[in-house]
Amino acid sequence: MTAIVLLCQDPALGDWLAGLFARHAPHLQVLRAHEPQARQAQVAVCWFPPAGSLAELPNLRLIHSIGAGVDHLAQYPSRDPQVPVCRVVDPDHIHGMSEYVHWGVLHFHRGFDQVLAGRVDQRWQRPVQRQARDYRVGVMGLGAIGAPVAQRLATAGYAVRGWARAPRHIDGVQSFAGSEGRAAFLDGLDLLVNLLPLTAATHGLLDRQVFACLAPGAALINAGRGQHVNEADLQAALAAGQLRGALLDVFEREPLPADAALWHTPGVWVTPHMASAASDACIASQVAANVGRLEAGLALNNRVDPELGY
Ligand code: GLV
Repeated sequence: MTAIVLLCQDPALGDWLAGLFARHAPHLQVLRAHEPQARQAQVAVCWFPPAGSLAELPNLRLIHSIGAGVDHLAQYPSRDPQVPVCRVVDPDHIHGMSEYVHWGVLHFHRGFDQVLAGRVDQRWQRPVQRQARDYRVGVMGLGAIGAPVAQRLATAGYAVRGWARAPRHIDGVQSFAGSEGRAAFLDGLDLLVNLLPLTAATHGLLDRQVFACLAPGAALINAGRGQHVNEADLQAALAAGQLRGALLDVFEREPLPADAALWHTPGVWVTPHMASAASDACIASQVAANVGRLEAGLALNNRVDPELGY
């Protein structure tokens, strides 16, 4: 029987994962890292695995992320770069992300940010009502999550643009691709949504040059990774009014430290990496399916392209 080891730095997360597999996939042999047989595991199920832990597994044949992102694995790779990496792609996760982003778009488009800020000094001031069709929203990242999010915003009536590494066709979305298409994509956007995967190519991508291309007083929604954003440039763009606000769900350090400036920066709305996550049942069933496929010698589901890093 294939042995699976759970690798994560947070012990509470390890307990939660152990319970999740016990409930939803009791047929799997799931071990915690401290158990003696764990070193023999062929499959590692991970979220920010402890430093060096993947390299200590001589029989490793599959690394499975419990989420859509795999950037948490890059820091501590396995000893064999050929070991396949898979991720969880959950339709409910996609749906949840669409809800979060749609809410964020409404928040800025309908001026709820300004109205809520007005509570402090009892300001009764109606925001200007703009039609959705005149509100230009750009989605960066058009993969398994970004494409349906862009589609939902288009269906809601927004003027939606999308940007990805390679051209994508999505109904109702004006698509741009590559570094050559980036300036035209960003030009005059009222709101930029980041859903890119974190790779060496996207690290720090959201910087002063990007913010300067947006419409004056534009807003940012970041539900990708904190490392996509150059925080000093974000702070400067907010202070200068080039950005009127930012809804941030992800941060370079999580939980966001209590003394982080972002908690108090005017115009910044902090949410605790809650935009969306794969469901317990889906994590268990997708890992179990891939363990079965590994045993049967079949192609794995949701395998990450090692060249692209997602
Ligand atoms: C969440 O951030 C995920 O990668 O699934």
